[in-house]
Amino acid sequence: MFALAYAQIADIIKTMKKTSVKTVGILTSGGDAPGLNAAIRGVCRSGMINYGMKFIGFRYGYQGLIRGEYIPIETDNVAGILTRGGTILSTSRVKPFKNPVEDPKTGLLPVEAIKKNYKDLNLDALVVLGGNGTNTTGSLLAEEGLNVIGLPKTIDNDIVGSDITFGFHTAVDVATEAIDRIHTTAHSHSRVMVVEVMGHKAGWLGLYSAMAGGGDVCLIPEIPYNIKSVAKQVLARRDAGKEFSIIVVAEGALSVEESKLDKKAFKKARLNMSQSIGYRVAKELEEATGLESRVTVLGYLQRGGTPSPYDRVLATQFGVAAADFLAKEDFGKLVAMHNNKIVGIPLSECAGKVKYIPKNDPILASGRSVGICFGD
Ligand code: F6P
Repeated sequence: MFALAYAQIADIIKTMKKTSVKTVGILTSGGDAPGLNAAIRGVCRSGMINYGMKFIGFRYGYQGLIRGEYIPIETDNVAGILTRGGTILSTSRVKPFKNPVEDPKTGLLPVEAIKKNYKDLNLDALVVLGGNGTNTTGSLLAEEGLNVIGLPKTIDNDIVGSDITFGFHTAVDVATEAIDRIHTTAHSHSRVMVVEVMGHKAGWLGLYSAMAGGGDVCLIPEIPYNIKSVAKQVLARRDAGKEFSIIVVAEGALSVEESKLDKKAFKKARLNMSQSIGYRVAKELEEATGLESRVTVLGYLQRGGTPSPYDRVLATQFGVAAADFLAKEDFGKLVAMHNNKIVGIPLSECAGKVKYIPKNDPILASGRSVGICFGD
């Protein structure tokens, strides 16, 4: 039995591709998204099987890297996680470069602590799984001399350089199912139903779920809305005998008036808003149409739970590609999807940017063609 195991191990070693990258740190940072565990599994399994790498998983995103809180990752702890939501490593929104404070015990600033832990643990590279904030930090750490690879995770699909991010399609599935269910109750009660979806400053989740769920109105940050246009659509539907309407509102949606404010004034106006944008749109619509309106804020439902098959496949592909980039020592890259091909783009090219829906987006055009009102 031992002889067999030895022979198998010898076989594996023979087929292993050569790389000088031996020990790799991995972390998940920012809001969680379905597919994180599938991506962790993809990187670690491929790294272990194909290249003989060792992995260390930092807990709570960059916080774990600063504090040196980690777990060794073995084949066992990446088994059975493909279908699991959340992240086995836990996450946080800690940003080491933002308002840095010295650790009272060590006297080290967060970035100094990261560099020390990276060196002390003999890391050859670091893989960061996250959205814009995470990859921007990754880019800054690369400038500090760390060998970083980033993976594009977010339900917002707003990472510059990647056509798609993992987590997005699962969130679209969840939002679409919610809209389908809201449709039947809207119909029964002849109500205007506002469904608020996430998406941060971009409208991808709003656009896709409105298209898939047959929304009558879709309000997204890229197209500031005029409540009169929205009311016109709702009243036209009522006059045509359709007494209910579904209004999908992205959490970042804003009115034409708000779009004219500078960043500071806009922030202030939003801070003074007691409820989220969906509630304001419902109130404005009720006043403008006299029709009963209700609000559903989908919130964290869109981020929780098991990833869709699409996201499992995508996250695995990204993970496996990350292991290849590590092995090639092709660092400072974001693993991205471009025209159906996985590519590596310099982290510095996506750092600090947001991918908005372009004006000529084909899905937007299709939405208009089937009569969705975008509030303009
Ligand atoms: O980036 C993912 C996201 O879910 C956004 O859609 C949303 O604006 C934000 O995170 C919510 O952040 P938090 O988890 O900090 O409440």
